[in-house]
Amino acid sequence: MTRYNLEERFLHGGDYNPDQWLNYPEILAKDFELMEKARANTFSLGIFAWSALEPAEGVFEFEWLDKIMDELAERNSNVILATPSGARPAWLSKAYPEVLRTNEKREKMLHGGRHNHCFSSPIYREKVAIINRKLAERYHDHPALLMWHISNEYSGDCHCPICQENFRQWVKQKYQTLAALNEAWWGPFWSHTITDWSQIESPSPIGEMQVHGLNLDWHRFVTDQTIDFYEHEIKDIRRLSPDVPITTNFMADTRDLIPFYSLDYGKFAQHVDVISWDCYPAWHNDWGTTADLASKVGFINDQYRSLKKQPFLIMESTPSGVNWHPVNRTKRPGMHLLSSMQFIAHGSDSNLYFQWRKSRGSSEKFHGAVVDHDNDEQNRVFQDVAEVGKALEEIKEIKGLHKKAKVAIIYDWDNNWALNDAQGFGLESKRYPQTLQEHYRYFWDHDIAVDVITKDHDFDAYQLIIAPMLYLLPKETMKKFQQYTKNGGTLVSTYLTGIVNETDLTYLGGWPQELQELFGVSVKEIDTLYPKQKNLLLMKEQQYQIHDYCSVVQTNTAQTLGVYGADFYQGQAAVTVNDYGEGSAYYLGGRTDQAFLEDFYQEVTQQLRLQNEWVRQGSTNVSIQSRESQQEQLAPTTYYFVMNFSEENQEVEVATSGIDLLTGKTTNQKLQLAPYEVQIIKVTAPVQ
Ligand code: GLA
Ligand code: ZN
Repeated sequence: MTRYNLEERFLHGGDYNPDQWLNYPEILAKDFELMEKARANTFSLGIFAWSALEPAEGVFEFEWLDKIMDELAERNSNVILATPSGARPAWLSKAYPEVLRTNEKREKMLHGGRHNHCFSSPIYREKVAIINRKLAERYHDHPALLMWHISNEYSGDCHCPICQENFRQWVKQKYQTLAALNEAWWGPFWSHTITDWSQIESPSPIGEMQVHGLNLDWHRFVTDQTIDFYEHEIKDIRRLSPDVPITTNFMADTRDLIPFYSLDYGKFAQHVDVISWDCYPAWHNDWGTTADLASKVGFINDQYRSLKKQPFLIMESTPSGVNWHPVNRTKRPGMHLLSSMQFIAHGSDSNLYFQWRKSRGSSEKFHGAVVDHDNDEQNRVFQDVAEVGKALEEIKEIKGLHKKAKVAIIYDWDNNWALNDAQGFGLESKRYPQTLQEHYRYFWDHDIAVDVITKDHDFDAYQLIIAPMLYLLPKETMKKFQQYTKNGGTLVSTYLTGIVNETDLTYLGGWPQELQELFGVSVKEIDTLYPKQKNLLLMKEQQYQIHDYCSVVQTNTAQTLGVYGADFYQGQAAVTVNDYGEGSAYYLGGRTDQAFLEDFYQEVTQQLRLQNEWVRQGSTNVSIQSRESQQEQLAPTTYYFVMNFSEENQEVEVATSGIDLLTGKTTNQKLQLAPYEVQIIKVTAPVQ
């Protein structure tokens, strides 16, 4: 992937839709002028341009794109060229209705909108292959081409007859025999035994359709089917431009940013050369602090860095507000630079925007953009963007550098799906991703780097692995945990871990033996609390609140660190630790408040010497993240991003002075930060 690595600068720019402006030559001319002023160097082209590229079936028009690409090349800009499959021309839907998606109620969708094609349709695949091949043939060696952007935000599922048949084949391939299938899906329950492969159907939206094994396999199939479609899209592109890296833009869910629900990106990440994603947090909201949200943004960025253990790209973000949150606030002064630098701090090599220019019509005409309808480079948003462009040039030596973490949190898609389906516990209170983010919060607050990995990653690189609520836990992963801990690792898990296997069948004969050995306890019961009910955790003369969940455990070899303060299990173990081989395994039986996690992780990180040594006196409102130079012959250099996610002045104290790359000034050990200020401090250790 030479070209990407050779690119020495951060990517700055974004989604550019000249295809909407072909009748406005003065606008296109203005764009080029403004690009320079915004210090924008990279543009994603053609994302929804199918109707401009192929206005009628088999009639192709590339001249407009040639011109834009040539002009960008001349200006030393990069193009991330998209395949247009995210939305299709009307002629295509009209001539071949099979390309349209069928929803879960088995209703055929109408033409309109976007991201709504069938991933199985042979005709859609054929039409996509043709346009993609044409693009690759024409532009594979174009000097502006930096990367391929495949489709746009793949998501959703289709329940049409072709998809049903593909699902059947997938299931058959996986289980081979109906006996194995019925065992895995627990067939006889409510008489759901399958006696012929043709009886298999995707889950219906009817509430009673509670074949959990089927639901779980459908989620997996949808991921595999989406990846298969993506692989189909890239076939000729890869053949014709083997050196050009390929990406597709991933997402996160909700304005509060939790991991994306419906596709297993852990799997998908293995198929892309570079991870890129679209990040739209609701800054300046009325339900949480700026730091609350910033920590969640940090979590998702850490996940995307960790999935491939390499720098990622922000493919889309907004320079101001979006148009799809219930309330679309614009960024306050300072927030754009701060939030852009946060991406870089966590391992991004870009800040790209949706969108370069606001469209004139349709649903995104009020979505934030670099260039507004006023076309004015003096407006605040444009100036903020230019400031980020300048900053990215000032810190360009950081591009490509890695970020090291000795702590990992495990996020697992299978687990999230199965837990979400589980009828039981508190239906509203499971909150698996949010719980991970609560654990993450300690590390974010204390400026300790974290990787967010899947259960399939290598565990050995970490001193501490945090794996809360792993309800679905295959035996294989239990063995991996045992090995990791035996070799000296520290593992933390919680209530609701280790209940079902990979096909969502409960373990028989009590809590799995492997977990009993590892944690030195046996889980006997899980008590679920109503939202207003609390229990207490008593530990080291401290008292903490417990809500939602309490596991009642019997301790075997584990040492009890804290006990429940109330109810029929009062006095019994709530927090335990077990020495296992060279390492230790902690079990947190109850869902605690943040105060407990704060004290608990403080002790664990102190024991393991995981604290950020550079930070003498931190602040929970100031996030400090770093990227490091790994070049051997040179003195080790660390770049600290010191970011004030609050509306007040903050002061932190650090171990060494350095140079603030944004101002060029030497810093001292006491750093004063204005509201939303960011400093990027280069510290070079003396050569030993
Ligand atoms: C997504 C899409 C873009 C645009 C933005 C708006 O990320 O990929 O095309 O619609 O949302 O926020
Ligand atoms: Zn389909």
